[in-house]
Amino acid sequence: MTQDEQKRAAAQAAIQHIPAGSIVGVGTGSTANYFIDELARIRHKIEGAVASSEATAQRLGGHGIEVVDLNSVDILPVYIDGSDEITEHLHMIKGGGGALTREKIVAAVAKRFICIADQSKLVKILGKFPLPVEVIPMARSYVAREIIRLGGQPMLRQGFTTDNGNMILDVYGMQILNPVELETTLNQITGVVTNGLFARRGADLLLLGTDNGVRTMV
Ligand code: 5RP
Repeated sequence: MTQDEQKRAAAQAAIQHIPAGSIVGVGTGSTANYFIDELARIRHKIEGAVASSEATAQRLGGHGIEVVDLNSVDILPVYIDGSDEITEHLHMIKGGGGALTREKIVAAVAKRFICIADQSKLVKILGKFPLPVEVIPMARSYVAREIIRLGGQPMLRQGFTTDNGNMILDVYGMQILNPVELETTLNQITGVVTNGLFARRGADLLLLGTDNGVRTMV
């Protein structure tokens, strides 16, 4: 299977985890887009969806799926999203598409986080993929200096502004042996909105598209 076929297979497998009549949290990126296309087929069985980005909201709307404001939602049974890297402990790096903050907010509200990914995303140690950190623009240089003190090499994502009007520093050169600790440490730097480590709240289930079909990991 190609990488895209693996993504699509994982997205298809996620459909059976969507409770009837629910509002579904939906992530951002190419794998999430496959999921949105699958969700469109069962749109009459759900009440609507909460989007983790403007791009996702647009795609959901284009398929006739009602986009619901997170603030009007009491219960979000499930959040479905892709990942840039994920370990067997279901800790992740996310934010390659720059939607990490809204993704983390929707994930925090959801009862279950189901990650859908192709097999290239499964890694032993996080950090080969540069770790995205969303920063308030005026704090960019200060945050970059603090990240260098922690051993990372931050690079400003050029020409990119998040849906929240902020900037992204992509941090290279980190071998992340303790993702829970690093997630907390980075979030304590003044000016950081959040970082792309999803470790304190990792995934509850991984549906991994592989050459041999979809593997389920918990
Ligand atoms: C966007 C994300 C995506 O989930 C991540 O980048 C994976 O993307 P793709 O499904 O295109 O490989 O975190 O902010």
